[in-house]
Amino acid sequence: MRLAGIGAAEYAPARDPPASASLPPTHRPPRRPQARGVFHFPRRPHPDMPHAPLDLVTLKDRPDLLPIVRSWLGNRRSSPACPEHCFVLLAGGVPAGTASLAESSLETRPDLTPWLANLFVPPAFRGRGYSARLVAAVEAAARAARVPTLWLVTRSAESLYARLGWRVVGLAEFHGDPATLMRRDLGPVQNPKPYRAESAAT
Ligand SMILES: CC(C)(COP(=O)(O)OP(=O)(O)OC[C@H]1O[C@@H](n2cnc3c(N)ncnc32)[C@H](O)[C@@H]1OP(=O)(O)O)[C@@H](O)C(=O)NCCC(=O)NCCS
Repeated sequence: MRLAGIGAAEYAPARDPPASASLPPTHRPPRRPQARGVFHFPRRPHPDMPHAPLDLVTLKDRPDLLPIVRSWLGNRRSSPACPEHCFVLLAGGVPAGTASLAESSLETRPDLTPWLANLFVPPAFRGRGYSARLVAAVEAAARAARVPTLWLVTRSAESLYARLGWRVVGLAEFHGDPATLMRRDLGPVQNPKPYRAESAAT
């Protein structure tokens, strides 16, 4: 019998299952790696897990995290940070804070560079010491870039930074608000060189 409108090819009987389906699992082809740039939900997603494993990644490793970093920072972003030096802390795979090593921050002090900038921990993750880990990551990146001194400007968190070894060097105005200028001496650095962000994140 011929079915109207259906050619031979479409009317072909169901094919046999592929050979791999009958093989034991160890002989199945390897799974394809997940595509980059896609946000994958974490295996253990609960943000309140007290002992969630922590990971530090950069926007260079995980460009898919740029939208959430942008949403955290709103318009308080300093100069665009190099993706390699924009850090994101993951707690159990969930984005839980960010900080950057930025070439510039305070418009009135273009002579000072580089800066610890854009430190932010979302409210659900605060009070767990995550800010200290992010600050340490930026300091380590600065050391690796042979930077002897880091700078920051803060409107409210100087006591937090002071506990992490930063020193107040003066007052400043930041986006129209009174703020404090602070510095961190990173110790002796061989062949110090000026910091230059290689590329912009935005
Ligand atoms: C400031 C901020 C990054 C702290 O993040 P956090 O992960 O909660 O910090 P920690 O858990 O490491 O807290 C360390 C300590 O600093 C204290 N602290 C938190 N925010 C502080 C602030 N703004 N000023 C002074 N101390 C602060 C905490 O109470 C805590 O003290 P404790 O150890 O005695 O309990 C976070 O509150 C935040 O993102 N705030 C909004 C953005 C902001 O203000 N960024 C800094 C701008 S320069």
